[in-house]
Amino acid sequence: PVDLTTQLAGITLRNPIVTCSGTYGFGEEYAPYCPVDSLGGITLKGITPLPRLGNPVPRLAETPAGLLNSVGLENPGLEEFLKTYLPKVRQLPTEVIANISGFSLEDYVQLAQALQKDSGLAALEVNISCPNVKHGGMHFGTDPGSAEEVISAVKAATDLPVIAKLSPNVTDIVAMARAAQRGGADVLSLINTLLGMQIDIHQQRPVLANTFGGLSGPAIKPVALRMVWQVFAAVDLPIIGMGGIVTWQDAVEFLLAGATAVSIGTGNFVNPQAPLEILRGITDYCRQRGVASVGDLVGLAHS
Ligand code: DOR
Repeated sequence: PVDLTTQLAGITLRNPIVTCSGTYGFGEEYAPYCPVDSLGGITLKGITPLPRLGNPVPRLAETPAGLLNSVGLENPGLEEFLKTYLPKVRQLPTEVIANISGFSLEDYVQLAQALQKDSGLAALEVNISCPNVKHGGMHFGTDPGSAEEVISAVKAATDLPVIAKLSPNVTDIVAMARAAQRGGADVLSLINTLLGMQIDIHQQRPVLANTFGGLSGPAIKPVALRMVWQVFAAVDLPIIGMGGIVTWQDAVEFLLAGATAVSIGTGNFVNPQAPLEILRGITDYCRQRGVASVGDLVGLAHS
């Protein structure tokens, strides 16, 4: 049998398949379609200190190759998360990664302080890359100095492993990855969504109420893969690869480029069985090629 177990900053995942923040909610609504215990882990919807309703609708639009969203971090807020969601989340039979977002350094620190190992979480993903909120968020993900500062503040505030989630809306992804590493990140996840837009030619105005949104799905896969490749070559940290992974072949490409784990986002919406099918495909690929452990694939295309 193929060894599927995957190590990420001291966490052992039963396999390298995780789900992206924003696509599996807090682990409830999706579970009937894809049993949680078949996944290496799930990443929860991003939380902020205070509850948020998110951006005005319409805030979702489909394009032929991907999905545009400008959700704007709708979430119940820290207090409600701790009271209502965390007790259920910690019962889930998989590793659970919480995702935190903020508008200031203090926001991130407050969230990180509230989430520790004894919360029953596996790790903290720091979202410095949401493209959909004005006044904050993005500058942490596009300016290396700010990224380093916020990651090191989070790192000092929690005993959980820290994952820095990077934005593709930069010209130098390696500089951002290095900044996150200097801040003390244990793992990097990349990529968040790519800023885009759509125009309704009948109404002659932008489809999204917010004008712009983050593009996800197959359209961004080559960009994500290129960034994983570059970061793997330059920075010695494990990578969770994401961005347009829909098939098992996509996932194998990310592993070969240097991702230690792969995360499924938009693919879940198109095919709720996607994570299961991807896991099966990776396993068969390893078996057919005589690869004993999925870890042996990581970064193989570089050599
Ligand atoms: O595309 C995204 N949408 N990325 C994020 O980080 C957050 C999310 C949202 O809520 O807008």
